[in-house]
Amino acid sequence: MASTVKSDVHTYGTYINGEWSRSASGKTFPVLDPSIEEVIAYVDESDSVDVDRAVQAARTAFDSGAWPQTTAQERGRILFRLADKVRQNAAMLAEIEARNGGKPIVEAEGDIRAVATVFEYYGGLATKISGQVNPVPANALSLALREPVGVAGQIIPWNYPLLMAAWKLGPALAAGCTCVLKPAEQTPLSALELANWFKDVGLPDGVVNIVNGFGKTCGEALVAHPLVDKIAFTGSTAVGKSIVKSAADTLKRVTLELGGKSPNIFFAEADWEAAVDGALFGIFINQGEVCSAGSRILVEKKIYSKFVEAMTEKAKRITLGAPLDRKTKMGPLISQEQYDRVTSFLEIGKKEAKVAIGGNRPMQFNKGYYVEPTIFYDVENSARIAREEIFGPVASVISFEDEADAIRIANDTPYGLAAAVWTRDIYKALRVVKAVRAGIIWVNHMQPTCVEAPWGGYKQSGIGRELGPWGVEEYLETKQVYVNLDEQPIGWY
Ligand code: NAI
Ligand code: MG
Repeated sequence: MASTVKSDVHTYGTYINGEWSRSASGKTFPVLDPSIEEVIAYVDESDSVDVDRAVQAARTAFDSGAWPQTTAQERGRILFRLADKVRQNAAMLAEIEARNGGKPIVEAEGDIRAVATVFEYYGGLATKISGQVNPVPANALSLALREPVGVAGQIIPWNYPLLMAAWKLGPALAAGCTCVLKPAEQTPLSALELANWFKDVGLPDGVVNIVNGFGKTCGEALVAHPLVDKIAFTGSTAVGKSIVKSAADTLKRVTLELGGKSPNIFFAEADWEAAVDGALFGIFINQGEVCSAGSRILVEKKIYSKFVEAMTEKAKRITLGAPLDRKTKMGPLISQEQYDRVTSFLEIGKKEAKVAIGGNRPMQFNKGYYVEPTIFYDVENSARIAREEIFGPVASVISFEDEADAIRIANDTPYGLAAAVWTRDIYKALRVVKAVRAGIIWVNHMQPTCVEAPWGGYKQSGIGRELGPWGVEEYLETKQVYVNLDEQPIGWY
């Protein structure tokens, strides 16, 4: 890894209580462009001392700062202004996402549009959060009030850096929470750029704080902090489980968006061209670094061989290249760690199944964490490449006999994030939709994600839902209020 210290590279600080400051330890860490393995920035490394400072700021802003006094309208306007900043600076942000995240610039531009949309959606939703009157059998007025949960610790991954920040900040701010956000150590830059606009858009100091650092030293301190009321996490299932255990000590609310091994199911009568496209798009978008990646491609036996052939032919046309090149369809993986993980699965896959295409590092690059788009076929659902999340451009194609067999294989996984089914038979499609245990099911498409609709997993893919009104629910408490309307003494004694 080419991480020699460079003096001409910008160092980002930590954003706490409305100010840029240095980390207590004085340590920084390098941030890379994964396509050339070169340092593009340094970022101050936060540890438990900085996390404590950030949490204290968020606590004060929640308990006694300006935030509790803001109206829902004001919170909404702040989110609209933040969305405007994102739109005005979309080109700069997309370039950061592409350079730092390794993703094709065209995809990064879509991510940034989605970021603005998420802030706008929650800006609008801020004024629609309301409680209710309960019809109690007494001379009383019974109310259910919705109140913000408090200080939210938000830990996000590197595959959609700013979009994941928006999925966390949007609903939390709409609800009236204050936040300590910890971006992934690989991709902190876009969230730090966002922080530059917090004052301009009218966010009071301490409402959003950003700490940067590693899971063990920064993430764990945030999860364990007694003044944090809720943790929202997106990342690996292993870390999700450790967060639940640690959060148990202080009984924090926890929402988790974790891994998957999502089935993409193709029946013989599906529209052929759309299906082949959908199989590739489902797994190769964002280099396969997608929680809902269609990594298990289930194909009906009748069309199996022809389908694998057609996928392979089309996969040859996927252009690997520099993230900033507009022709690029696949960039490098995010890091050496992820490259090692994915290439180790390539070796496992070569023993467990047959290779239709890929399986190696592409010859044309001597730098960067590039991996060929890879299709394994004749995969057993019991194989490791069908059970474990690889989080890279690696498809496992599995054949099935009939509808019942497809459903059985689809559900034979510890995960339950997403699934897709391709058929022209509406009865069959809807039976599969009902039978598959997953939080998101697409019919004749895979991956489109809309802020208005719920997102989250069944089984070991997570707890809770993001996006839509469901996303804001997770940042609210419910307070019951009983107002006696009877002016008499209780009369019990
Ligand atoms: P990770 O789960 O370790 O990291 C995600 C975030 O959690 C980062 O901000 C990280 O600093 C933080 N973190 C790590 N350990 C922590 C801890 N003990 N306490 C609190 N926070 C902690 O994921 P990683 O290592 O980057 O990737 C490993 C695998 O995780 C991937 O190969 C993929 O399978 C899965 N993953 C799933 C994602 C999803 O969208 N569901 C996103 C990223 C990774
Ligand atoms: Mg990790």
